[in-house]
Amino acid sequence: MSDLLVSLYCPGFKASEQRTERTDITIRPVLAPERHVVLSWIQRHFSDNWASEAAVAIGRQPSSCLIALNNGELVGFACYDAIARGFFGPTGVAEASRGEGIGTALLHRTLQAMKDMGYAYAIIGDPGPTRFYIETVGAIEIPVAGKGIYSDMLRTPKPAARV
Ligand SMILES: CC(C)(COP(=O)(O)OP(=O)(O)OC[C@H]1O[C@@H](n2cnc3c(N)ncnc32)[C@H](O)[C@@H]1OP(=O)(O)O)[C@@H](O)C(=O)NCCC(=O)NCCS
Repeated sequence: MSDLLVSLYCPGFKASEQRTERTDITIRPVLAPERHVVLSWIQRHFSDNWASEAAVAIGRQPSSCLIALNNGELVGFACYDAIARGFFGPTGVAEASRGEGIGTALLHRTLQAMKDMGYAYAIIGDPGPTRFYIETVGAIEIPVAGKGIYSDMLRTPKPAARV
């Protein structure tokens, strides 16, 4: 899937703020001493690749990785400026907590943080759930085929098959 572009000044972005109000979860940046807790949660729920990206975001000042907490329990995360400046992602919500507006809230708050940093647009690289981004924040497709910055990325080698 091609990369997506989100205008941080379009009506879709503004509308996502109202959807954020549906939830009573806490969203805030990750603190440096929480780094190991958050990264192992991301590895467990998602992947090593996403944990590596989040490590970069958490290492920035201010931290560009936000987490969602429900009664103190980690239920989701979202990053920006991880793989490249101006990029949103990765993001994820624990499977048991999906469909409650947490993903939208994280998306809106993270894009708002980008706007506060001076960005006017955010890029979502090689997105999975395209419809989620189009419907929640009015993202549009960038008409360039391929995986963009993620092309030819090194991955953990699969263990050799035993004979
Ligand atoms: C994508 C994700 C973060 C959304 O989180 P969520 O908390 O379930 O999202 P919300 O509850 O805020 O959903 C908002 C809307 O988007 C829709 N939506 C959610 N996930 C979707 C998906 N994967 N595909 C299409 N639409 C989706 C919901 O149906 C909802 O629509 P509605 O308001 O009409 O009911 C979550 O599904 C997830 O962690 N997925 C796996 C990781 C992933 O794909 N991350 C994105 C990488 S680019």
